[in-house]
Amino acid sequence: MYRPYPELEIQWNPDYTNFVLKCPWVSIEVEVDPSDRENVLSQLHSGFAPEFLEFFSDYPISYFRPRALPEFAIQTLDFSWGRSSWPADQILEQSEIPGADGLYDPQTAYGLIRRQRLIRESSAKSTLGVYSELGQLLDQNEAAFLQVAREILRQTYHVTSQCDFALAPASLASPLDSKKINSYRRSELGHDRLVLRSLNELGVRKSQLSEVMILPETARSMELLREAAQHHPLAFCCLVGLFEGESFSKSDPLADLLARSSRPKAAEGIQKHFEINRDGNHAQIGESFVKDLGPVSEEAIRSAIFMTEEAVALGVALNDHFVRKVRSC
Ligand SMILES: [Fe+2]
Repeated sequence: MYRPYPELEIQWNPDYTNFVLKCPWVSIEVEVDPSDRENVLSQLHSGFAPEFLEFFSDYPISYFRPRALPEFAIQTLDFSWGRSSWPADQILEQSEIPGADGLYDPQTAYGLIRRQRLIRESSAKSTLGVYSELGQLLDQNEAAFLQVAREILRQTYHVTSQCDFALAPASLASPLDSKKINSYRRSELGHDRLVLRSLNELGVRKSQLSEVMILPETARSMELLREAAQHHPLAFCCLVGLFEGESFSKSDPLADLLARSSRPKAAEGIQKHFEINRDGNHAQIGESFVKDLGPVSEEAIRSAIFMTEEAVALGVALNDHFVRKVRSC
């Protein structure tokens, strides 16, 4: 049963033909067929009804309530500990399984950790800022724009080329469903070649990759993913959700900019990569993995919070790095 994030709001247009569901990180516009209107209104009569939220469960606007122990198909525990400035006690309290002392529902925790991540990401304006500032740089100084684009793509190349190495431990001796993990690993294979295609169009050959720096934040992010895949199944699910991200746009923002530069072919590889993620609904992968976990311990939840918080901080630092770089051009 789904519960709304406290940030969720709904705004109807005056004639009740459509509404907008809004959180600070996403806005979903929905048309309402006249024959459905009464049903929709009744589902919203006293707050957001669970069936209403379930219909929109592909969007990060709700989380799943803790299940009772018998509802779990699998009973597993994992371990380890971290410290966090996120409201860990609140997440623990809200994910505790009723009547099961000290056991928590990983699916609920996943949704609540995702909320903290989205709050942090949406308050760090640099996420969008880097692309709008990069667009201005393209108009003013294309050579500098292309150099920043090479540096950003070098990070993406590192992530895509290290992806399978980082994911692999999760399919061995892990409580997660190895079939699902392996199919995800297959769907990610070869994406480095798509990114390399874009880099080639920007004049960077494979043999020249070492000339463009891998930033420490990028390197650490992949180490963190591998560490989670090895030892922390819940954290692993949260990190996969973070790396895939929530994208509701039709195209890759960097591909859009490259398409209007003098090297439009450089947009093709990364746009194709974006479409594979979107068409494979990769934004939902972390959530689909977490459904295979049994009840978890407090330590598992704390380490998932801790590792996700670190990964968010790394992502924000990377964006800030590129915003500063663009401004210094
Ligand atoms: Fe993906």
